[in-house]
Amino acid sequence: MKIVSVVGARPEFIQAAPVSFALRREHHEVLVHTGQHYDDTMSRVFFEDLDLPAPDYHLGVGSGPHGRQTGEMMARLEEVLWKERPDLVIVRGDTNSTLAGALTAAKLHIPLVHIEAGERSFNKFMPEEINRLVADRLADLHFCITRRAVQHLAREGITEGVFFVGDVMLDAVRLYLPRALERAPALLERLGVEPGGYLLATVHRAGNTDDPRRLAGILAGFRAIPEPIVFPVHPRTRQAIARYGLQVTPHIQMIEPVGYLDMLTLEAHARMILTDSGGVQREAYFLGIPCLTLREETELMETVEVGWNRLVGTDPQRIMEGWRFFRPAGPRPPLFGDGHAAERIAALLRQSPPRFGQHYQRRETLSLPVRENAELIPLS
Ligand code: UD1
Ligand code: UDP
Repeated sequence: MKIVSVVGARPEFIQAAPVSFALRREHHEVLVHTGQHYDDTMSRVFFEDLDLPAPDYHLGVGSGPHGRQTGEMMARLEEVLWKERPDLVIVRGDTNSTLAGALTAAKLHIPLVHIEAGERSFNKFMPEEINRLVADRLADLHFCITRRAVQHLAREGITEGVFFVGDVMLDAVRLYLPRALERAPALLERLGVEPGGYLLATVHRAGNTDDPRRLAGILAGFRAIPEPIVFPVHPRTRQAIARYGLQVTPHIQMIEPVGYLDMLTLEAHARMILTDSGGVQREAYFLGIPCLTLREETELMETVEVGWNRLVGTDPQRIMEGWRFFRPAGPRPPLFGDGHAAERIAALLRQSPPRFGQHYQRRETLSLPVRENAELIPLS
C-alpha cells in the first residue's frame, strides 16, 4: 500500500517514528511535514534523534491563526494527495496538522487512519479537543492508546474500526530510552543537577500561555519551590513570558527546548515532573516519575485515578502543596499497552486495510434524544 503520513508538530515526529519503522517493512510510506513546527529545536532535532526518514514533502506552512494555518495546510496537502493518490492517510493526535490531514483526506475520499483516537478532555476551549473530535468523526480506522479512549468513541456512536493498540509513545520510550540514558552524565553535569535532585517543567498549552494570570500563577508556583527546576521553554511560552514581563528566579533554569533523547534523560532522572503536556504526562507515567499536571482537567484521567498524576491547575498554592505532599508509590498498571503498538497498527492495516466510508452508516439502533414535534425556534 502507499500510505501518506502527515506530521507537523513536535509530538507527531515522536509518534511517527515507531510507526514509520513498522510500516516501511511492508508498505511505501510518503512522509509529509506540514511545517507547523519549524525551529531546529522543534523539528530538525527530532528527525536526527529518532532517525526519522526525511520528509518527502515539506509544506512550509509555519505559524499563524488557526484558520489560516489549517487552511494553508489543506491547500498544500490537497496537491500532494492529488499527486500521490495514496491508499490511505495517517494522522495522529490532535494538532492543526491532524485536523488538516483528516479533512483533506476525507474530502478526497481517501481512507483515513487516526492514531491516538478517542482522547477527550471534555473541554472545547482547547483547540486540540476540536481537532480530535473532527478527526475521530472522519476516520475510517481508530487506533486508541487506552481502553478508556475506546469507551469515549463508543459513547459518541463510533464502535466499528476501533482498536485498542496501546501508545506508540511507549514504543518510542522502549526504543530510545537506552540510547537516551547514555547522555545522562554529560547532560546533568552541564545543567549542574544531580539525578533525582531537580524538577522538570514544561508549559505550552494555549490555555496557560495566552492567559497572563494563569502563566503568572504557574511561574509564581515555580518560584516558591525551593528545589532546582529545569524548564525547557516552548517558543510560545518564551514569547508569552516576555510579553507579560514575568519573572523567574535563578533556581529555575529556563533552557531552549531540548531534543527527544535529552528530554527522555531529563524525565528519567527528575524527582518530579510539572507539565501541561499530554506526551510528558504519559512519559512521566511510563518512567514512574510523579507528575503534577498544570491544568484543571486531563485526557489522561486514568493516570490520576491510579495515583501517579495530580491535577494542580495554575494556582501557586496548589502547585506548592503538590510539590510538598504528592508522593505516589502504588502500582502502575499497563494502561497504555506493552510498547508494541506500532507493530499492532501495521498488522491491523495488513489484515483489514480500510476503505473510505466503510464504518460510516446510519445508526438506527442508537437512541438519540430526538424531539418528535420539535417546534421551530420563533423568529425575533
Ligand atoms: C501545537 C499543538 C498542540 C501541541 C503542541 C506541541 C495545535 C492547535 N496545537 O501547539 O496541540 O501540544 O503543538 O508542542 O496544533 N513557534 C515558534 N517556532 C516553532 C513553532 C512554533 O516560534 O517552531 C511559536 C510561534 O510563535 C507560534 C507559537 O509558537 O505562533 C505556537 O505554535 P503552534 O504550532 O501554533 O502551536 P503550539 O502551541 O506549538
Ligand atoms: N519534548 C521534547 N523536548 C522538549 C519538550 C518536550 O523532546 O523540550 C517531547 C516530550 O518528551 C514528548 C513530546 O515532546 O515526547 C511532547 O510534546 P509537547 O509537550 O510539545 O506536546 P503534547 O504532547 O502536549 O501535544
